[in-house]
Amino acid sequence: MILEAQYQQRRENFLARMSHNSVAVFLSASNKTRSNDTHYPYRQESNFYYLSGFKEDNAALVFVKTKESTQIVLFVQKKDETLELWNGKRLGEKEAQKLFRVDKVYVGEDFTEKLKEFLKDKNKFYYDFACEDARLQGIKSVTQKLKTHVNASALVAEMRLIKSDSEVELIKQALKITKIAHHKAMKFEKQGKHEYELQAEIEYIFKKNGASSDAYTSIVACGNSANTLHYIENDKVFEENELVLIDAGCEFDYYASDITRTIPVSGKFTEAQKELYNMVLDVQLHIIDMIKPHAMKSALQEKAEELLCRGMIKLGILKGNSKELLKEKAHKKYYPHGIGHWMGLDVHDSSPYRYDDNKEIPFLKGMVLTIEPGIYIDKDDKNVPAKYRGIGIRIEDNILVTSNGHKNLSKKIAKSIEEIEALSR
Ligand code: GLY
Ligand code: MN
Ligand code: MN
Repeated sequence: MILEAQYQQRRENFLARMSHNSVAVFLSASNKTRSNDTHYPYRQESNFYYLSGFKEDNAALVFVKTKESTQIVLFVQKKDETLELWNGKRLGEKEAQKLFRVDKVYVGEDFTEKLKEFLKDKNKFYYDFACEDARLQGIKSVTQKLKTHVNASALVAEMRLIKSDSEVELIKQALKITKIAHHKAMKFEKQGKHEYELQAEIEYIFKKNGASSDAYTSIVACGNSANTLHYIENDKVFEENELVLIDAGCEFDYYASDITRTIPVSGKFTEAQKELYNMVLDVQLHIIDMIKPHAMKSALQEKAEELLCRGMIKLGILKGNSKELLKEKAHKKYYPHGIGHWMGLDVHDSSPYRYDDNKEIPFLKGMVLTIEPGIYIDKDDKNVPAKYRGIGIRIEDNILVTSNGHKNLSKKIAKSIEEIEALSR
């Protein structure tokens, strides 16, 4: 759980990044309609949540900074008995003023008028450039006159790079549940069943253990399905001797986990599957080992590509000299994606990989990222030994950068062939 004092500190940190004579606006996520009067489950906008810890919609957080003073204001929905009967309780401005350490709480109805007041005589406006909320339109006549516009979400994204202990704790909670789900998937009798049946088992575990949702749509891909990177149909029947690539992780109290395991339908890897699997696993272990403060993600990417390319040559998937193949990017055909990404409030955290001057951001204590090498060989790829065709493998863990190295937060999720086969029995 993240305490109000931490949200307050984040707001102070954001305020410190603002120039004098400026206003910043963060808006809650809007409620998305699925059809007619049916809505998608509501989830707060991550940057707004990061700074406020407030989960209701129709809310706004506003920062006002002049040379002489600063003000942080929260706008919330006003109490409404009828709407609360249909859509759930609202905190209301009086309770919000007690719970949130902001200077002032107003009701949402006052937003336009108050903002026009705050924006008077200012010259800089911070807001999320991607935001399409009508509330921004309502103040456009004023904001468009301001000299400078700054993408506020980019500033918060940078703040989100380093996780606090309590944020790491929430990622660990998410991983605890995700571990149970992946172990359940290993034990589950798959043969003759559909991918979606296994998906249901995994997501049942998420829900049953109090996860707020899945952190992304689960991929359960057997055989050649695994070679479609964003496969989410999950509707094929498991065949004996196939591998199943499962990329599934829950979100716990707003924090994501992102785990991939690739496991045999029958519980036993074939010899060919073992060869491919251990090649990817060796690369994954090597790359994880490189993570420490001041190491660079680009170096990890380069090393992963080199090792995967060499592995592919060794297994007869690529033919030729590794230097030349790497230069031609021949390996990209079988490993087309990145080695990993930041994660946290979002599974692909929006945090930057480069500073404004384009210099790469090095790893620092408290950053969390995934490491996820893979290999994907289409069933019809005649350039590859027949025994490897129709196999897709990815192995993904979530890694915390520590003061002198790293910690694999998902280390307890079975990963070696021995561990997976032992659980599958
Ligand atoms: N689950 C999405 C990813 O691995 O990036
Ligand atoms: Mn990932
Ligand atoms: Mn993933």
